[in-house]
Amino acid sequence: MRQTIKMILRILLLISFISCVSGSLVVNVTQTHYQAEQNHSITLEWTFTPKPDVSITSVYIICELVTDLRASVLFHLHEGVEVSESQDQQFSGRVQFDRDELREGRLRLQVSRLRTDDSGRYDCTIRTSDGWNTDVCRLNVTET
Ligand SMILES: *[C@@H]1O[C@H](CO)[C@@H](O)[C@H](O)[C@H]1NC(C)=O
Ligand SMILES: *[C@@H]1O[C@H](CO)[C@@H](O)[C@H](O)[C@H]1NC(C)=O
Ligand SMILES: *[C@@H]1O[C@H](CO)[C@@H](O)[C@H](O)[C@H]1NC(C)=O
Repeated sequence: MRQTIKMILRILLLISFISCVSGSLVVNVTQTHYQAEQNHSITLEWTFTPKPDVSITSVYIICELVTDLRASVLFHLHEGVEVSESQDQQFSGRVQFDRDELREGRLRLQVSRLRTDDSGRYDCTIRTSDGWNTDVCRLNVTET
């Protein structure tokens, strides 16, 4: 049941993203590969240009950990507000972000108490009034 709801949410999210033209928004990771040890923290970073105009209520973000088996939501922002209900249980209480940085066109997600199963590919799609785009980085969490 929970899986079904999550699937529907994902589809709705994708539709809401794709229904607007890609536009001129540029999304970039600042680092393509991150390496970290279990139980440590790491900050994954994406930048986007142009910066959101007047307010961040025009910003939508969905970041997911994608593995061969599944996709887990790391972070979801809707109209500038974090939607913790969408977040996968795996990341619950372990992700922090700074709203003020968003105004500067920077998304920094600090993930703490890293687990080896946090390893994988992280896709972040960002949408603003200028359009939407995605960029990807990889995280490798090793056992200590
Ligand atoms: C984003 O990445 C593209 C392609 O790697 C590069 O051409 C562009 O200068 C970058 N833009 C910013 C704002 O970092
Ligand atoms: C992860 O890091 C370990 C230790 O540095 C390395 O042996 C391993 O190949 C890396 N795995 C990936 C998928 O990069
Ligand atoms: C990581 O944290 C877990 C749970 O807090 C603990 O059981 C484990 O010993 C820690 N591992 C290391 C390598 O610190």
